[in-house]
Amino acid sequence: MTRGKHREIIQTFLGTSMGDLFWNKVAAVVIGLVLMVMVIGVVGDIVFPEEEGGEGQATLSYPIDLAAVMGGTGGAAPVEEDVVDLGTLLASANASSGERTFRRCVSCHNAAPGAGNLQGPNLWNAVGRDIGSYDGFSYSAAMAGLEGNWTYEKLDHFIANPRGWLDGTAMSFAGIRNDEDRADLLAYLQTLSDNPVAFPAPAPVESEEEEVEGELTETAAGGEDQMEALEESGDAMIGDQAGEGEMPEAAPGDGGN
Ligand code: HEC
Repeated sequence: MTRGKHREIIQTFLGTSMGDLFWNKVAAVVIGLVLMVMVIGVVGDIVFPEEEGGEGQATLSYPIDLAAVMGGTGGAAPVEEDVVDLGTLLASANASSGERTFRRCVSCHNAAPGAGNLQGPNLWNAVGRDIGSYDGFSYSAAMAGLEGNWTYEKLDHFIANPRGWLDGTAMSFAGIRNDEDRADLLAYLQTLSDNPVAFPAPAPVESEEEEVEGELTETAAGGEDQMEALEESGDAMIGDQAGEGEMPEAAPGDGGN
């Protein structure tokens, strides 16, 4: 191929002769590419913003549960278990839906005062009573050997998974795995007494959301302070006709970003 041939090809490609405009066109293409890269960068930042104070670590706006995506718990990411505070659950528990759940227990447990034992002991006054102590019932060695009284926490664990919690128990019941269902059931057990035992207090909530809310309120309060300061200085300026009132400095952290 000759030099002339090259020239022809380029000319056909650009649709122009290699006159003055040739290098202009090359420059335009290069600038166009640079602009495109910049635009992609800016758009990328908007779609996937870096977290503030994240020390340059980019995080996705939409966090992806890698473990879920990979379809298993085998990944390196620890699977967080949702530990729901029992007191919190009990605070909104519903005893009458608990009574419905209790139908799964009545084949083995009476619940009326003075009613006898069935395959399991009578559950009147079960909350708070000495574990494995109901008159006339012969408990397994495992349950008879348990010290202490039935608290809501212990009942919660036992009912969730009887054999998992108390190895060797004679209660052959699979357990109720749903947290809310168990809370409702405990709320019903609470009613089976002349002196119902109070629920444990809900644990103070310290969720991430609350922290963010707290920060927002602080910022808002900061804004208010600033407004007040501005108003005061405004008053000062009005009072001081010479106009020597100084503008207050912006509260640290406000403005700027
Ligand atoms: C298949 C029969 C069966 C079913 C169903 C059953 N239990 Fe039991 N339960 C037992 C037996 C048997 C024991 C005694 C366990 C032992 O001695 O280890 C027991 C013991 C208990 C105790 C301990 C009582 C005490 O005196 O210390 C509680 C509380 C209890 N069950 C609650 C429940 C609840 C609530 C349900 C329904 C969700 C339920 N059980 C369903 C058979 C059953």
